[in-house]
Amino acid sequence: VDERAAMTLALELAWRGWGRVHPNPLVGAVVLSGDGRVVGEGWHAEFGGRHAEPIALEAAGDRARGATLVVTLEPCNHQGKQPPCTDVVLAAGVRRVVAAVPDPNPDASGGAARLAGQGLEVRIGLEREAAEAQNAIFLHRFRETARPFVALKLATSLDHRIADAAGQSRWISGESARAYVHWLRAGFDAVGVGGRTARVDDPSLTARGPLVPRVPPRRVVFDPSADLGTELDLVRTAHEVPTIVLASVDARTANLRRLALAGVAVHQAGSLEDGLALLRREGIGSLLVEGGGRLVGALLARDLVDRYYWVQSPLWLGDRGVPATADVPSVPIARTDRWKVVERRALGEDTLLVLDRR
Ligand SMILES: NC(=O)c1ccc[n+]([C@@H]2O[C@H](COP(=O)([O-])OP(=O)(O)OC[C@H]3O[C@@H](n4cnc5c(N)ncnc54)[C@H](OP(=O)(O)O)[C@@H]3O)[C@@H](O)[C@H]2O)c1
Repeated sequence: VDERAAMTLALELAWRGWGRVHPNPLVGAVVLSGDGRVVGEGWHAEFGGRHAEPIALEAAGDRARGATLVVTLEPCNHQGKQPPCTDVVLAAGVRRVVAAVPDPNPDASGGAARLAGQGLEVRIGLEREAAEAQNAIFLHRFRETARPFVALKLATSLDHRIADAAGQSRWISGESARAYVHWLRAGFDAVGVGGRTARVDDPSLTARGPLVPRVPPRRVVFDPSADLGTELDLVRTAHEVPTIVLASVDARTANLRRLALAGVAVHQAGSLEDGLALLRREGIGSLLVEGGGRLVGALLARDLVDRYYWVQSPLWLGDRGVPATADVPSVPIARTDRWKVVERRALGEDTLLVLDRR
């Protein structure tokens, strides 16, 4: 295989760390012999565990000498929970290193320069866009410190409705899309919904697929009045699944107290921006917002969305169905931003589109 195909393989391997390595990056590595054979594979599988490069190089053994190391992130150059990968790369006798993205972490960067200084050929940037999309949550942490990475996930009808006229949304999407969502949640620090969705659907918002997240996502309900009923499962299970309610500054004290007594972490914020900043300070680096339409619309209107996981299902719900986005200001075509398609794939009869704001 050529270097590009090896990078594609390394990106696939990196996904195996999803749900297990965050807040560290997903990383995959492949050792490519001079005649284009894959002689070693590795991936970062567990937070704090071994890095992809030493695993791939160990698998390659003597065949790493004179070979090319293809890796999705620049090899680290610092002693953290693991020794610097640059040491391991140098010791293995690799001739060339190809990485997709430079390491944004100021503590760990400088790997490429060190390796080049030791006479290795180093190239950075192969499949950079794909690698940046894969590690968007990790990269966001260094680019934007005010708020978490915010992704939307919605299952909609063909006419972009998230529930029928009676408010019923179970189930718009099919089983494989729902299985995908359990996998997706496992890689986020928190899963959020609007207050009305919490009341109408009482969703569990947990990751219940085969992938068991290292740290289960916390739940966040955006509910200005904080008058969620304590009979909701979401509230009753707050002792088992950490649950946050983001209320407005003028929510009634009695409501706040009632939820706090039920084990909910109640916070008050003056705006969506302040609420998101607060979540970030609470250690939430990534938030998956699963509706409803009013919360989603408010986030979009304020330009607070980084990614949209759109599950499009082959059915129509009509004009009285609940719109997927509410109250988003109109924009002329000439001035609107075109989002970038990161992924497009079939999930059973549904279609997944993953789109990033530019
Ligand atoms: N198919 C799907 O993927 C899917 C996903 C989720 C929900 N749903 C369906 O969608 C329906 C509910 O959606 P919805 O649009 O009616 O409601 P929603 O977005 O779930 O709830 C609106 C909530 O967000 C709060 N909110 C709105 N703007 C805010 C802001 N700027 N800052 C803080 N909080 C804000 C509102 O508070 P106030 O009302 O106090 O202002 C309200 O509690 C349900 O029928 C549900 O079944 C479908």
